[in-house]
Formats: sequence, structure tokens, C-alpha cells
Amino acid sequence: MAWQIQCTASAPLISPPPSLKPKCLPPHSLVFTLPVARSSRFRSTHTPSPRPVAASLSTVESPTSADGLDDSSKTPLLEVKGLTAVIAETKQEILKGVNLVIHQGEIHAIMGKNGSGKSTFSKVLVGHPDYEVTGGSVVFKGENLLDMEPEERSLAGLFMSFQAPVEIPGVSNIDFLNMAYNARRKKLGEPELGPLEFYAYIYPKLDLVNMKTDFLNRNVNEGFSGGERKRNEILQLAVLGAELAILDEIDSGLDVDALRDVAKAVNGLLTPKNSVLMITHYRRLLEVIKPTCIHIMEDGRIIKTGDSSLAEVLEEKGYTAISAA
Ligand SMILES: Nc1ncnc2c1ncn2[C@@H]1O[C@H](COP(=O)(O)OP(=O)(O)OP(=O)(O)O)[C@@H](O)[C@H]1O
Ligand SMILES: [Mg+2]
Repeated sequence: MAWQIQCTASAPLISPPPSLKPKCLPPHSLVFTLPVARSSRFRSTHTPSPRPVAASLSTVESPTSADGLDDSSKTPLLEVKGLTAVIAETKQEILKGVNLVIHQGEIHAIMGKNGSGKSTFSKVLVGHPDYEVTGGSVVFKGENLLDMEPEERSLAGLFMSFQAPVEIPGVSNIDFLNMAYNARRKKLGEPELGPLEFYAYIYPKLDLVNMKTDFLNRNVNEGFSGGERKRNEILQLAVLGAELAILDEIDSGLDVDALRDVAKAVNGLLTPKNSVLMITHYRRLLEVIKPTCIHIMEDGRIIKTGDSSLAEVLEEKGYTAISAA
């Protein structure tokens, strides 16, 4: 029997202006979709989201949370109920009824075998065009997330770091970030930052992820090593902020020092109001970014939710022990 799911998560994406869309990208690429957040947990210099946070939602049943506290005392950020989704092109069903509630200030982790639907779930949340939602509901900050365009999701405070960040030939990292950041400021009615002002804004954030300034002038992810791409994803998060940051295998390909830097950066961006949904295969990430609860996904559903001891069971006994329990 599936456990009741108590966690919540969310993050927005922003698309760059059409003028920057390279022709060599695949048609369904979300390469240019940037997470933009104005939140409190991922501290940015920005103003809070215009969308009010709903005090409570009755559509999701989550009487108690994984930490044993009454959920009525918490503010839900993301509420996913019975979410089903297919691959747009083939109509193959991948998500088969995902339930998940994430409250403000919580860190949730999703683990699961390769191909169980973790990345698909996160991409559906940010509105990736490769997938069609066929059922269920997703409420983010009290509003129907599924009604929003990817850009609106980003502006609402949803950020996603992709498992395999894509290169954007011909567009420098700093121009890309400046553009995405200004798009968000424009939407919020704030004045855009010119190149010099933006440099002053981003410069201290490089330290946060331990990146050299050279990376700002290189084309987005072009020639970046796997670990450098992951650091760059966290730099995007630091620049744009997010109320819900979805980090899909942010630890993959990182050496020990890089993992520590990335974890430190993520932890440094956390505030009591923002949340993280991280997907990982390894306990080492969960030791440095400590989750409120861990969910196990199998065949397009969350089949179990628990505390960090779940990750220990997994490492010692594998998924068979979880599936059979
Ligand atoms: N756009 C797509 N086209 C075809 N198949 C897809 C597509 N997206 C997802 N799938 C399939 O859906 C299943 C779930 O994929 P997904 O990437 O969500 O798995 P995952 O749990 O993230 O796995 P991993 O741990 O390996 O990253 C896989 O069998 C995958 O091949
Ligand atoms: Mg994946």
C-alpha cells in the first residue's frame, strides 16, 4: 500500500526572448527556459511574488507530515494529487498517479530506479512540452499550476535544474542570466539592470558556487565539464531565486569538493519559506542537504515516503527491499 505523501515542491521557469533562440536546438528543448524565483527561501534581491500564498487547501489529504507535525500549522507550497501524464508524441503513460505535498521550508528528496519517472515528474511540473498531463491536479501557492505557461511558472517562483543541462551556443552565460533576470524584473515592474549593474549583482554569487569569473563570458554550458554545468545551474538559482527549486540529480558528476560547494550554496540559499525538491540516487547528497522526507518513485508513482532512514535501507538492501515492504 502506498504511503500517504506529505511533501510539497515547486519552481518557475522563464523563457528568453525569441531573438536568443538558437536554431540548432531541438524543437522541444527547454534550454532557454530559466527558473526565476522571487522568494524568500532562495534569497534574491527581489520582491516577493505577487501571487499570494494560500493558507490552506482542502484538495489534498495530508493530515500529518513526515515530521509528525500537524499539517494544518504549515503552509502548503506545492500540492500534487493523482497526477498522470503521457509523452506528447507517443501517448505512452509515464506518470501514473503522483501524490505529493510540499510545505514552505521543507526539503524533499525523490529517489527511485532509473526510468521510474523522476525527471518526467519534475519536467511536467515546469511545463515541459514533451509531456501532456492527462489527469490529476497540481496546485502551487494556491493556484492551478497546470493552467500556467512555463514562463508564468517561473515567475511564480518555480525553478528547475535539469539533469542534463544543455549548451546554448552563441549566448554568453552572463548575457543569458542578465536577460533572464531582467525578464523577471520587467514582469515585476522593476527597472532592468544594465550590464555593469548586473555584474555587480552577480559577482558575489560566483563565490557562493566557487566559480571563476571566466565562466560568465563563456557560452552557456559550452565546453563545460559535467561538474561545471551543475555549478552553473546553482548559479542560475542563486541569481534568479526560487520558492521551490527542483534539483534533478544536481550531484551527478560532481567531485567531492564540488558536491560540498553545491550543497553549501543550496543550503545558503534556503530560508524558512522556500522549499527544495531534489532528485538523487545517492545518500551522500542527503547527508549535506538534509531532507524533511524522502519519497521513493516506482513506475510513475510515489510508492513510499519516509525519513532519511529510507536512504540507508536503499543503500544497504537496494530497491527490492523497498518495493517489497
Ligand atoms: N520524451 C520522451 N520520449 C520517450 N521516452 C521518454 C521521454 N521522457 C521519458 N521517457 C521514458 O519515460 C521513462 C521515465 O523516464 P525519466 O527520465 O523520468 O526517468 P528517471 O526516473 O528520471 O530515470 P533516471 O534515474 O535514469 O534519471 C523512461 O523509460 C524514459 O525512457
Ligand atoms: Mg532522471
